[in-house]
Amino acid sequence: MQDAIKNYEDVDSWKTIMFLYNAALKEVGTKLEILNDEFQHVHQYNPIEHIKTRIKTPESIVKKLKKYGYETSVENMIKYINDIAGVRIICSFTSDIYRLAGMIGNQSDLKVLSIKDYIKNPKESGYKSYHMLVAVPIFLSDSVVETKVEIQIRTVAMDFWASLEHKIYYKFEGHAPEYISQELVECAEMVSKLDEKMLLLNDAIQECLERERIREADEKAIDFGL
Ligand code: GTP
Ligand code: MG
Repeated sequence: MQDAIKNYEDVDSWKTIMFLYNAALKEVGTKLEILNDEFQHVHQYNPIEHIKTRIKTPESIVKKLKKYGYETSVENMIKYINDIAGVRIICSFTSDIYRLAGMIGNQSDLKVLSIKDYIKNPKESGYKSYHMLVAVPIFLSDSVVETKVEIQIRTVAMDFWASLEHKIYYKFEGHAPEYISQELVECAEMVSKLDEKMLLLNDAIQECLERERIREADEKAIDFGL
């Protein structure tokens, strides 16, 4: 991506970079929509509940660079900030998360740079989600620029927890009273139990529907004297 700035010396490099990250978000958004549509077409089921995308604000980018101890520069932000372009995918069930992660990983033009599985290894806070850092090729008129996008995949329940925890974290500027942090960890455990229960329930529902389909097919076969 550094090269892209040199190629665009006539344009303000910040604007160029933001244009690239926006393009990367559009690319990933379209890919996910297609995967979801295909899944609906093949399995009559949508693994994605909804998708949120966001570009990090200049203030948060500068804050993060400072936190990491780097000078504020476009070069440093490209190199060290991985979540300038962020996509959050909300699914119904934990199994959808791994299914989607697999489908994303199989896209031959996407490069998976890293994976953090906070579902198998939750954070101390109780945070659960599946994170993928991918590089998306952006095809420009005279070059191709690999652009990083952070993809977070989580269930509706995990998202509910994360948004509340995020609010509390900011309210207390990262120093919430111990009992509140503890309660949040307990809530995270409840969220995991809920996710497990819903997944089992969904499996049971699918099984019932499958049995019903087989029964109907048998009845039809009998009607036709087969
Ligand atoms: P950041 O510097 O926060 O981006 O962390 P990182 O570079 O070590 O990456 P990590 O994968 O840990 O976290 C990336 C993102 O995940 C954060 O920007 C949040 O959106 C989300 N996240 C991580 N940990 C937590 C948490 O404890 N609570 C909530 N609500 N969100 C979290
Ligand atoms: Mg982040």
